[in-house]
Amino acid sequence: MKILVINGPNLNMLGTREPGIYGNETYENLMDTAEGAAYAVGAEIEFFQSNHEGDLVDRIQQAYFDGTDGIVINPGAYTHTSIAILDALKAVAIPAVEVHISDVSKREDFRQISYVRQACIATVMGHGIQGYGEAVKLLKDHLEEQGE
Ligand code: DQA
Repeated sequence: MKILVINGPNLNMLGTREPGIYGNETYENLMDTAEGAAYAVGAEIEFFQSNHEGDLVDRIQQAYFDGTDGIVINPGAYTHTSIAILDALKAVAIPAVEVHISDVSKREDFRQISYVRQACIATVMGHGIQGYGEAVKLLKDHLEEQGE
């Protein structure tokens, strides 16, 4: 089972970026957390981060061809704006879980829309970088139910 973790703009700045909202842990800590969760469930894991919408779309499309079984995605601010990322997730039809480090439901009005959510089997928000570990487990359970 191969899981791809995609992070959008500014998530490479974790640890430095608005620590009051996103905490002190870094992108490396995030990768370690997700990797630990993948190891625990016996899944292979790969990471991709980009600040560019088209690159995120390209990587989702590539997932269709490289044997990815499940996607964990935090599109960052593109969550609230990108129909292109939603369409890419729908196009590849690979089970995906949406993750947000902060609890976006308790933040500004402009963060209340998530386009990608429509293409995701679940959303994990407000659990910090641990949310990535939870997303890996959710995907593993889902894929097992599907018999993959
Ligand atoms: C975020 C929430 C988004 O609203 C924001 O634009 C981000 C990070 C989160 O992980 O909490 O960049 O996706």
